[in-house]
Amino acid sequence: MKTGDCTACHNVHGSEFARLLVRKFPLNFYSDYSPGEYDLCFGCHNKDIAKTRTTETLTNFRDGNYNLHYFHVNRAKGRTCIACHDPHASDQYKHIRYEVPFGAWSYPISITKTRNGATCVVGCHAPKTYDRVKPQIKPSR
Ligand code: HEC
Ligand code: HEC
Ligand code: HEC
Repeated sequence: MKTGDCTACHNVHGSEFARLLVRKFPLNFYSDYSPGEYDLCFGCHNKDIAKTRTTETLTNFRDGNYNLHYFHVNRAKGRTCIACHDPHASDQYKHIRYEVPFGAWSYPISITKTRNGATCVVGCHAPKTYDRVKPQIKPSR
């Protein structure tokens, strides 16, 4: 999210969580899925975005009804939110980050919105397009 209000997420007077965060949030690139790990984000956002494999309502990050938040996040060694989103300022669509830190490296991400989805060009896999109306991806699980 984009806001000057640091205290929505950080407690400058100290906190039991890493980075003085007000709620729980995993700082790794990978984390086993449990909604409680993402308490920080789910305090403001729908906590069910990654809950079910198929949905037509929980998220717009889906190909047809195949939930791509579920695919990326809801698994052992799932990607955490900051693998793709920048909780600080990002002017890119849906606060997708421009660069992903990955160990000692980083790689660029670009996302281009389409009419009913988007095309992502990332370092993790070949460029992919998702479309909520005309599915483009053959689900692998
Ligand atoms: C929407 C929640 C959110 C808001 C609002 C927010 N932050 Fe953060 N901040 C995070 C999260 C999550 C992390 C840990 C992940 C990361 O480092 O990217 C973090 C990490 C940080 C870090 C540590 C960076 C590092 O590399 O160790 C600093 C410094 C910071 N925030 C400063 C700020 C300041 C200053 C503001 C207000 C202008 C602010 N944050 C607003 C969520 C937020
Ligand atoms: C204090 C409440 C709050 C917290 C905590 C918070 N957000 Fe947000 N977020 C918002 C608001 C309000 C907006 C809409 C305004 C904007 O886009 O700046 C937003 C927008 C977003 C968007 C764009 C959504 C859209 O439909 O355009 C994403 C993605 C996002 N946040 C991810 C995160 C992630 C990831 C975290 C956890 C690290 C997080 N947010 C934590 C309040 C929050
Ligand atoms: C693999 C990359 C990726 C990961 C990981 C990821 N997101 Fe997203 N997220 C996206 C994309 C892409 C969109 C834009 C969907 C659209 O509108 O086309 C999005 C959209 C959103 C939105 C807007 C509402 C919606 O669901 O359409 C929120 C809020 C959000 N993400 C929060 C999160 C949170 C919280 C996490 C961690 C639990 C997370 N995301 C993990 C890529 C990701």
